[in-house]
Amino acid sequence: MAPPSFSRVAVVTGANKGIGLAIVRQLALAYPSSSLNKGPLLIYLTARDQSRGEAAVKDIHNDPQLAKAQALDSYGGLSTVKFHKLDIANPNSIDAFTASMKEAHPDGIDFLINNAGMAMNGFDLNVVKTTLGCNYYGTLAMTEKMLPQIRDGGRLVNVASMNGHLGSNYSNSIKKRFLGAKNVEDVNKLMEDFTEAVAKNEYKSQGWPGAAYAVSKAGTIAFTKVIAREQKMKGSNVLINVCCPVSPPTAHKRNICSDPLRDRRPPKVALSFFP
Ligand SMILES: NC(=O)c1ccc[n+]([C@@H]2O[C@H](COP(=O)([O-])OP(=O)(O)OC[C@H]3O[C@@H](n4cnc5c(N)ncnc54)[C@H](OP(=O)(O)O)[C@@H]3O)[C@@H](O)[C@H]2O)c1
Repeated sequence: MAPPSFSRVAVVTGANKGIGLAIVRQLALAYPSSSLNKGPLLIYLTARDQSRGEAAVKDIHNDPQLAKAQALDSYGGLSTVKFHKLDIANPNSIDAFTASMKEAHPDGIDFLINNAGMAMNGFDLNVVKTTLGCNYYGTLAMTEKMLPQIRDGGRLVNVASMNGHLGSNYSNSIKKRFLGAKNVEDVNKLMEDFTEAVAKNEYKSQGWPGAAYAVSKAGTIAFTKVIAREQKMKGSNVLINVCCPVSPPTAHKRNICSDPLRDRRPPKVALSFFP
């Protein structure tokens, strides 16, 4: 039998659980009636851990709502969900993923949802470096490396957070730097300055909050705005968004949600399909 050919290709990072898994589900459910439906859709459910990723794909295939909607290829539907390993905190993993996408889809992909993220307990230099490494630098690397592979008319959604809001715990001069960032280097410099201020235990006096997660998401919002502006100036037709998932708490917030996949509205999917 000839291998299936796909008209559209989507990638979701950190998709083995929580919001990422819900996005995969909602992509499969929303795609058939979307104006972007052009035929069979391949969704890469990516995860840093192979067994967790493969278990999530199994969950998707056993999902009664997807079965009822006949959304998946196994029921004659449009969507195929496939696991691909990807650790966004590991540059080698990002390079391997990017190369693999280029080889499998030389004409490019259509939708990238950079959802993977983490929040740690406590606040010290290690927490700052680890959190920025994943949430900020990992999302930035995925954006920069995959953007050239997103086809004309495609969608890129970076998942940030309301926690990235520049509130009263930032000094006015730091807020100004975030809001006035002209290029990615300006935002990188903010992340470097924050890290250095924490290393010297001067973050409070310099006007930074004692919150690595919040700063990582403020940085994600800032670099996404910069890149979206740059892309527009280059005449790119890729729609770039950054969003906060409005949702009940998940494991990420160290809380228990009775049924996170079904309780949650899919704002990122709405952003990527219904601009
Ligand atoms: N839940 C909320 O209320 C809320 C609010 C605002 C923003 N957000 C954002 O929404 C996104 C999803 O959050 P969630 O609540 O679904 O969190 P979650 O349940 O903890 O899921 C996070 C996902 O990201 C993955 N991940 C973590 N580090 C990774 C890495 N280095 N490489 C690849 N994947 C990695 C996790 O994989 P493992 O299972 O291997 O750890 C997991 O699949 C995050 O960016 C988060 O900051 C969430």
